[in-house]
Amino acid sequence: MGDHTEIELIAQTGTSEIMPGVSTKTWGFNGPHLGPTLRLSRGENVAITVKSELPETTAVHWHGMKLPAKADGGPHSPIEPGESWTAEFTVEQPPATLWYHPHPHGKTGVQAYRGLAGMLIIDDELDLPNEYGVDDIPVVIMDANFRDGQLDETFDLDVGLQGKTVYVNGITDPHFDATTSLLRMRLLNGSNMRFHNIGFKNGKTFKQIASDQGLLDEPKEVTSVALGPGERAEIVVEIDGDLELYSLGFEDRLGVPDDEFVPDFLLEEKASLLKINAGELKASKDLPAFAAIEPLQAEKVRTFELNTYEINGKSMDMTRVDEVIDHDEPEIWEVTNANSDWIHNFHIHNARFQVDGAWKATVTIRPGETVRLLVEFGHYPDPHWPYMYHCHMLYHEDQGMMGQYVVVSSGESPDLQTDFLHHH
Ligand code: C2O
Ligand code: CU
Ligand code: CU
Repeated sequence: MGDHTEIELIAQTGTSEIMPGVSTKTWGFNGPHLGPTLRLSRGENVAITVKSELPETTAVHWHGMKLPAKADGGPHSPIEPGESWTAEFTVEQPPATLWYHPHPHGKTGVQAYRGLAGMLIIDDELDLPNEYGVDDIPVVIMDANFRDGQLDETFDLDVGLQGKTVYVNGITDPHFDATTSLLRMRLLNGSNMRFHNIGFKNGKTFKQIASDQGLLDEPKEVTSVALGPGERAEIVVEIDGDLELYSLGFEDRLGVPDDEFVPDFLLEEKASLLKINAGELKASKDLPAFAAIEPLQAEKVRTFELNTYEINGKSMDMTRVDEVIDHDEPEIWEVTNANSDWIHNFHIHNARFQVDGAWKATVTIRPGETVRLLVEFGHYPDPHWPYMYHCHMLYHEDQGMMGQYVVVSSGESPDLQTDFLHHH
């Protein structure tokens, strides 16, 4: 079948200018900060080798991919300083905007904060704006706190590494010169903790064409899209003058009460994301017709309760299997945020799920809310390797708000290999 592609990523330290004229120590893949955008297409056989030149253990996860657990890059696949790890898989899912980021046990937040993150695009099968950097641009949103020009890694006891300075594609105050009448933007909320309500400063309407895991059933006219940590959306905007992509803030604070005992998740905060200058514009083609999304049929129900740093009353244990999936059918996962004053979200590895009629891999859950996810898992039975599900607010995840599931063949039992936990 498909092509065979080999990709090498070198995780490294360096310095970059997030703020103009200020040299900041950062981490990146194949460069000092962030990583290259990887482009794959359906049917492609891929081998991605990650070599670590970092001073500490890392792991690299392909967020949104359905793939064998051995290649998923969770905390069970640590990469020690100076060592390499190779993930091999075949792309068997529809076009979407995914991403990759670190996932070492307990240290995901700080490593992502230093800049280890990149976009992973599964190429279009419809005729959409797709000239990278021209009418199809990545918008990778992150944030940081700076002290003396360096990343401040002081953990706030309530919100961890939640940054007050928002930056996009590695820099503060970026701008883009638009040259086409339609501009497609692939928005990725790559922040540790922050939720963004993204639109234009002047309130202009635009079309959302895709959520986390691929196209919607049709382009949807909106004035904002909400993205929690880890989420993506693709939007298409008609350029009719200069525009400013903006984090508009959540007027309703996503249901989080406004009182002094509640952690400050910066939900009402506004921030400029990207200034778009309209130059001479070439006319773009109209968007094509999209395909319907058929609702998944599922019977098996599992329930998850998120409460402070725990899921179903448990904190992450790499040697414990929390859920076993021994079939190749979709399931219903009902996930409740049991906190009355904290926001959480929920991400499942090796899966895409339907919620609100769209395909997603991470969903925001308001205080007291229950979401019902129709989940389609990748089916690569392997009793030895687990997949993760967790809150994608990285401080919560690193505090243990994560569980493990194993996909096995019918009748088989999980048998985790955790020897590496004892090796030095
Ligand atoms: Cu985006 Cu378990 O991760
Ligand atoms: Cu993931
Ligand atoms: Cu959380």
